[in-house]
Amino acid sequence: MNRRLAMYAGTFDPPTNGHENIIKRASALFETLHVVIAVNPDKKCRYTSEQRVKMLKIITKNLKNVVVEYWDGLSVDYARKHDIGVMVRGVRNEKDFAYEYDMACKNHALYPGIETVFLPADASLSHISSTEVRKHKEEGGDLSLMVHTDIRTLLT
Ligand code: COA
Repeated sequence: MNRRLAMYAGTFDPPTNGHENIIKRASALFETLHVVIAVNPDKKCRYTSEQRVKMLKIITKNLKNVVVEYWDGLSVDYARKHDIGVMVRGVRNEKDFAYEYDMACKNHALYPGIETVFLPADASLSHISSTEVRKHKEEGGDLSLMVHTDIRTLLT
């Protein structure tokens, strides 16, 4: 288990400027950051896994130590497969922390030794959830402050 390797798993439906902020900060902390498009059984995604992989590859194209992959299994199994020692999550508020703490405990039980690192969301971005982006898009709103410029045309 290599502590210099980290993963940032999410549904990224779609990836937002909030996600991009976490990715950039986490990529500066670790030798390699795996951005993993994973399955949250509580969510029915609007965008296909292929679309989300493409969007994240565009967003991370200048980050040479970032890998983008889709994974339909347990996050800890992805970590095992790639010898990853740290999971990164962004937290915006106490509600997020409760959810993330629970997930971190479950992951640790499934894979003893795996560490979870929480990065506080950038205060100026913490309101930008994927749900808000999808709603704003449906309403014909301006997405320029919510998602990366180069993926806006992909948000069909
Ligand atoms: N700024 C703003 N918003 C942020 C943010 C930030 N820094 N970080 C996260 N968010 C928002 C996201 O936009 C997202 O909003 P949404 O709920 O409207 O989609 C929400 O906070 C968190 O979503 P995301 O970061 O995509 O993660 P998730 O909670 O949907 O993903 C998985 C959870 C996929 C990591 C988890 O289900 C998982 O590991 N699945 C794989 C199977 C598994 O291992 N299950 C057992 C887990 S214990």
